[in-house]
Amino acid sequence: MNKTKDYNPYVVIDRNFAFGGNGNLYLVKDENEIKYVLKILKIHSAKDVKKVKRFLNEIKFVEEYQDEIQGIIPIRFTYIPEELKSEFEFTADLKGTELWYVMDLAEPIAEKLGETRDLEMIIESLISLSQTLAELHSHIIVHRDIKPSNLYYYKDTWAFGDFGLVAYPEIDDKNLTGKDERIGNYATIAPEMRRGGLVEDARPADVWSLAKTLWMLITYNDSSCFEGSYSRNVEEISVSRYLKGVPTDLLHNILECASRYEPKNRVDIKEFLRMLEGYRDLLSDKKRIFSYKELQVLSHQSEEGRFFHNSADRTVATDQLIKNFNLILENQEYYFRTQQLDDEVDILKYIKYKLEFFSLNSYLISPIIGHHRNTSLPAIRIFVRYTDTEAKFVSDVVCLDKKVHLYQHRIPSMENYYDEDERVDYTVVNDFVKIIDSISMKSNESLR
Ligand SMILES: Nc1ncnc2c1ncn2[C@@H]1O[C@H](COP(=O)(O)OP(=O)(O)O)[C@@H](O)[C@H]1O
Ligand SMILES: [Mg+2]
Repeated sequence: MNKTKDYNPYVVIDRNFAFGGNGNLYLVKDENEIKYVLKILKIHSAKDVKKVKRFLNEIKFVEEYQDEIQGIIPIRFTYIPEELKSEFEFTADLKGTELWYVMDLAEPIAEKLGETRDLEMIIESLISLSQTLAELHSHIIVHRDIKPSNLYYYKDTWAFGDFGLVAYPEIDDKNLTGKDERIGNYATIAPEMRRGGLVEDARPADVWSLAKTLWMLITYNDSSCFEGSYSRNVEEISVSRYLKGVPTDLLHNILECASRYEPKNRVDIKEFLRMLEGYRDLLSDKKRIFSYKELQVLSHQSEEGRFFHNSADRTVATDQLIKNFNLILENQEYYFRTQQLDDEVDILKYIKYKLEFFSLNSYLISPIIGHHRNTSLPAIRIFVRYTDTEAKFVSDVVCLDKKVHLYQHRIPSMENYYDEDERVDYTVVNDFVKIIDSISMKSNESLR
């Protein structure tokens, strides 16, 4: 029995538009033919009292914040029967009672991403959603049900739907969530939420769920996810399996840091957002980086028959590079030491050592060699692991006359690394190493 009879002022277009945990969602239209989604809850038994309370909580929250915080699908109309507006208990005459609300129509994230999932679009969506979540978390609001099916593309941006499990300071969550009740979705729920019992601060759990969501979007799993924390070393779950020819190290970092088992060890939403932005920049920068083959093609096609490029913007096959290092490059350290270039050799070795052992990026660096244009200059060649199979050339580094030159990138030379006692000042060298590390994954073009 439907006590409301119709959904005035809305007309139902499709009763099977979508299915939720509490019943169907209808596609409806208003008198101007504008389409909306109607979410409905029908009371069947005493068990549904809690569902009603959550539903009312969802409405109250969304109406309160939809204009404050961007990235929330707004509610436009609600129907709540009088008897449910204040404290109520289940009585037989409530059976069949419906309450409903109408919200803007949005495009589910899986539909928007479509068949060919573009990694950049996925990262863009996660950045936008993280901005919204950071805003929510700053108000101590937690969503608690983050998963692909609750995310949307809406009004040229991304938004959260389904605030059915939202918790915020003004509500008494204990009334809504039983002491031992597990809340949230199986695939994306954080371990501390799975254990049951009340969690003091559920914000880290949202970060966990968002990280799991990111993985699900990348791997085309819209409803299932791997168990526990992410690790790049577990081959079956590594995103490298799905992303070929793309730098993935930073993405591995993001997924690992956001799915650490202990909530206190997880990155917070602001740090998660910052890392995603870094990854977005890396992906857009990659468009300026070519393989050696691509460069040859471009050079062939270019009008003058020449394509000017900077060799810092090219990649080589990593296995080939390692072979070359082993075969061709002969360590010239001894030779340069006989030329009284001990400090120069030591500084280059120090730069190599620092990058190889103390950086998050993974470097492939030659031993001390003579620079290819002038073999009397001691040099090292720096490459960085860029994708699973490719390494990117960073620069030759030459050390001479109290200067360290970096050729490929527009970085000024390091000048006079001696202190007052004419000893090498390694703090100066350390700063230079940091600069090399910060530009190594970037193209020269992006540094201009
Ligand atoms: N505003 C909307 N626009 C388009 N589809 C929607 C909208 N709201 C919900 N849906 C569809 O209905 C499904 C269930 O809605 P949701 O609010 O998540 O309900 P539940 O709380 O039952 O999970 C969603 O996964 C989605 O497919
Ligand atoms: Mg849902």
